[in-house]
Amino acid sequence: MNQHALHGTAVELIGISRNIRRIRELIDQVAETGFNVIVCGETGVGKELVVSSLYQKSNRLGKPFVKVNCAALPDTLLESEMFGYERGAFTGAIRTRRGKFEQAHEGVLFLDEIGDMSLPLQSKLLHVLQGGDFTPLGSEKPFKTDVWVIAATNRNLRKDVEEGNFRNDLYYRLSTLSIHIEPLRNRPEDIPVLIDYYTRKYSQELNRSEVGRLSPESIAKLSSYLWPGNVRELQNVLQRIIVLGESEETLEAMLASAPRVRTDESNRITSRTSGVLSEILANNGGKLELADLSLKKIRKKAMNQVERDLIGHVLIKTGWNRSKASRILKISYKTLLQKIDELSIVPPPELA
Ligand SMILES: Nc1ncnc2c1ncn2[C@@H]1O[C@H](COP(=O)(O)OP(=O)(O)OP(=O)(O)O)[C@@H](O)[C@H]1O
Ligand SMILES: [Mg+2]
Repeated sequence: MNQHALHGTAVELIGISRNIRRIRELIDQVAETGFNVIVCGETGVGKELVVSSLYQKSNRLGKPFVKVNCAALPDTLLESEMFGYERGAFTGAIRTRRGKFEQAHEGVLFLDEIGDMSLPLQSKLLHVLQGGDFTPLGSEKPFKTDVWVIAATNRNLRKDVEEGNFRNDLYYRLSTLSIHIEPLRNRPEDIPVLIDYYTRKYSQELNRSEVGRLSPESIAKLSSYLWPGNVRELQNVLQRIIVLGESEETLEAMLASAPRVRTDESNRITSRTSGVLSEILANNGGKLELADLSLKKIRKKAMNQVERDLIGHVLIKTGWNRSKASRILKISYKTLLQKIDELSIVPPPELA
């Protein structure tokens, strides 16, 4: 059976960030070659979507697409799941079972969460990948495999290799090409386009034609959120917005469950800087070509945002002591007062 058919309607790999554009290129280049690929990235970034796009573009489309979740089963079960067994191979083997390798013959075998595979099973997998055949438990006949193995993991496999938890040789075997998908917070410019795509999709699916597009304010708010659960979390929030509406309170409540700013201040500033781009996109319905892209204006806006953040932060740290803050910022007292005024920085109520 072509298990890919179970995945529902195909979804495009949406995004305008450099990372996603590069991945789309790589998919086109590699799909023809059948090189072993490993796809890495945090939970919900789109690893499975990338694997499925590789399959869609390959000449194995139409042949089986078989997924094995290496984290879901204990070792012995995973082994028989992958390689199968003959009837009577062990107590309880009442009928012959074809393993996933065999089911995926001529197609794609997707090894999800490969980082969770035990070391003994890693050895066996390496052996099969090198020799191209294996013998199911209790069988006499080796099975010659022809599968395109694509693996995915949300772990840092290189670190696992260094720490001895993942076989170096298997890592190299699997990663002729490694595709790293950045977390959404590092590519905020993708957020407005994903919002656009999924609000349309969900509105159509739920027959809510009136919710075609979110307000620029909502898009800006969603774009500055850090999305620890990445695209999957964004999808959940959008589905709820379509049903519950996009009022300020609803959004606040939905996003309240996770931190919106990084704890590390330097990171926070960089993330806000790229936030300027998401804001521009948000104000132009996700279409950069519609925006006023005067570099001078954008630079000014980004600088203002960084200055507002930094000055605000130092003022709060110094209890709104402006002469102390000006020394820390290495600007004159007068300049600081001017900036506070220009950038409309206001003290929090307890210091006002
Ligand atoms: N760039 C994208 N464009 C459109 N949809 C995306 C994109 N990235 C992810 N998605 C969607 O987000 C959801 C989560 O993606 P996916 O299941 O591929 O993540 P994953 O990295 O495999 O997560 P996990 O580690 O939790 O298994 C899917 O419905 C997927 O279609
Ligand atoms: Mg996945």
